[in-house]
Amino acid sequence: MAQVEGKVALITGAASGIGAACAETLAREGAKVVLTDIDEAGLRQVADRIVKAGGTAITLRQDVTDEARWAEVVAEAERKCGRLDILVSNAGIGIMVPVLQMSLADWRRQTAINLDGVFLSVKHCVPAMARAGGGSIIIMSSLAGLRGAAGLAGYCATKGGVRLFAKAVALECAAANLNIRVNTVHPGIIATPIWDKIPSGGVLPAGQNAGFDPEAMSQMAVPLRRAGQAQDIANGVLYLASDASAYMTGSELVIDGGMFSGNMPRQA
Ligand SMILES: NC(=O)c1ccc[n+]([C@@H]2O[C@H](COP(=O)([O-])OP(=O)(O)OC[C@H]3O[C@@H](n4cnc5c(N)ncnc54)[C@H](O)[C@@H]3O)[C@@H](O)[C@H]2O)c1
Repeated sequence: MAQVEGKVALITGAASGIGAACAETLAREGAKVVLTDIDEAGLRQVADRIVKAGGTAITLRQDVTDEARWAEVVAEAERKCGRLDILVSNAGIGIMVPVLQMSLADWRRQTAINLDGVFLSVKHCVPAMARAGGGSIIIMSSLAGLRGAAGLAGYCATKGGVRLFAKAVALECAAANLNIRVNTVHPGIIATPIWDKIPSGGVLPAGQNAGFDPEAMSQMAVPLRRAGQAQDIANGVLYLASDASAYMTGSELVIDGGMFSGNMPRQA
């Protein structure tokens, strides 16, 4: 039997990268998926692939920072799919700039999506999951939510913030006996379009003016010597979404090719 058969999953940031892989994986494993993003064209492409593969997907335009829209999206998911069992709170951006050069506007923009957006997702999805008798919330943090990274102070603040937010919500859900589990996922360097979107903010090495190349960075920084793929993260999300992880809540799943374990001496 498929691992999330009969469940309904809402995935934010589902038009690209990790969110798209999560949507396709959960759909393949039997869930009806509700895909949301600000990128409507991207959403349609992902939904088309899911439907062609025999799955069920609906798409809704959503800016995760808009609270009124959250109420509409959850109501629409319940109306069209009957219930809500899984939330993958994944939408996020990365702004790379030394903290002294970071504008307050950029700090707030990143925090609004990565932290406020996660808060709103939980606030609006927990009541729907409670109506369904329980559920699983998966919040996309980062390796940068477990340790610092130069040039990413604001990003680290949001990703570290959601890590502890998730633990507190996990305890609240358990205390209220809601049968709702809450866990975080911590990807390392994953080859997705996010690396082409990171504003450089003046921290690129001299002579480099292109986007960041996750594969080249991984040769140096990752013990397994390669970047991860979105599917590597989706596999972990599937586990946390399914009943196979029924005893996991308030916990964190690190998927990083070994980066968090420590440094490895490199031989040429
Ligand atoms: N790729 C990596 O190396 C990596 C590592 C650690 C954590 N992450 C996290 O994983 C998540 C997904 O990243 P990705 O690599 O797939 O990036 P991506 O850029 O490919 O996808 C992010 C998606 O979020 C959407 N989005 C942005 N702002 C939004 C908003 N306000 N409302 C709704 N949707 C919005 C974008 O349109 C995009 O489709 C992010 O939270 C990111 O911080 C990524």
